[in-house]
Amino acid sequence: MNPYKIAEGIYNVGVADWNIRDFHGYSTDKGTTYNAFLIVDDKIALVDTVKKEFADQLLNNISQIVDPKKIDYIISNHTEMDHTGGLPKVMSYIGEDKPLYISKMGKKNLSLHFRQNWNYHPVENGEELSLGKRTLTFLETRMLHWPDSMFTYVNEDKILFSSDAFGQHYAGPEKFDDEIKDAVFPHAKAYFANILLLYTKKIQKLMETVNKLGLEFNIICPDHGIIWRKNPEKIINAYIKWSNHEAEKKAIIIYDTMWHSTEHMAEKIAEGIDSEGVMAKPMHLRSCSRSDIITEVMDAKAVVVGSPTLNNNLFPTVADFLAYMKGLKPMNKIGAAFGSYGWSGESIKLVNKELEAMKFELIDNGLKIQYVPDGDGLKTCSEYGKKIGRAVLQQTMAG
Ligand code: FEO
Repeated sequence: MNPYKIAEGIYNVGVADWNIRDFHGYSTDKGTTYNAFLIVDDKIALVDTVKKEFADQLLNNISQIVDPKKIDYIISNHTEMDHTGGLPKVMSYIGEDKPLYISKMGKKNLSLHFRQNWNYHPVENGEELSLGKRTLTFLETRMLHWPDSMFTYVNEDKILFSSDAFGQHYAGPEKFDDEIKDAVFPHAKAYFANILLLYTKKIQKLMETVNKLGLEFNIICPDHGIIWRKNPEKIINAYIKWSNHEAEKKAIIIYDTMWHSTEHMAEKIAEGIDSEGVMAKPMHLRSCSRSDIITEVMDAKAVVVGSPTLNNNLFPTVADFLAYMKGLKPMNKIGAAFGSYGWSGESIKLVNKELEAMKFELIDNGLKIQYVPDGDGLKTCSEYGKKIGRAVLQQTMAG
């Protein structure tokens, strides 16, 4: 990725990771970018770096604008390795004594990543740094995405460097929201669902603080994906909606199957839900990624989980997905369980237990069918789907 100008004296000098398909378990079928920002003023600041293996590309990109050795300040908004892996190389090249602005927790965490005695400058929430014509303000944003996260705001230009927030795992030919238009939103939504869903309370608080401070954003620069310059308010409004756990009249049927019996049940349940006028989408766990499924779960009212019983237990992919979903803490959902079994049939109980632990409102004790569902069995599945569909209608109308 060539460096490009965002505003007068402000550049994205980051890199594209076109080929990454698995970002610590998140399926990134469009790759991603690690954005890093150079602010050229009387003093020169670099905001964030990139993954370790791209450090040379970052230095090369900076060199196309200024000699990297002329950088006066490094700012690290977030210590996760996709933004700091390149830091040792950058520091060693530009000078280990350069001041490194970071949150207090960031200093602690980065010291544990790299064990380097850098010239740390841990900042207070709201602390400012003048670069000459521009002033930067540092804002603490704990848990967006780690306890060390912070934002950096350019007061005069109203430009926000938002770290992971408002990002997307997307590498494409477009650089800005006005180039990709609304096609960026599925990527932003997937990012929110897989990375930020469990921090919705923090996001709501942050939005309140931003309102109270009267902060305005002309441009939002996340560390992943495209830059929001045309309509930054659109992504802010989307974050407000997503952090409120607003659900649509939609049910996601997540399942795995051994000999197609649970699959047939899933499809009939989906038909029953659909016949009530509720969107229904069956998602087979070995055909759809966890990341895509949780993205659909985020704005679905009902989450219907199907598992065969294997060795008196859940089917492994179902157990895996339930663990993933539990960690991300989706809220205000209706839950239901179903599955085919041979002789013991524990899976339904086990699914229900997990859904209850997630505080889902269970439809009932679930639906299980022994071995292969016959005509009557499939009819029962369809009726079960109708029951779920009606519950979705009731709750979405009530909500
Ligand atoms: Fe892009 Fe939390 O790192």
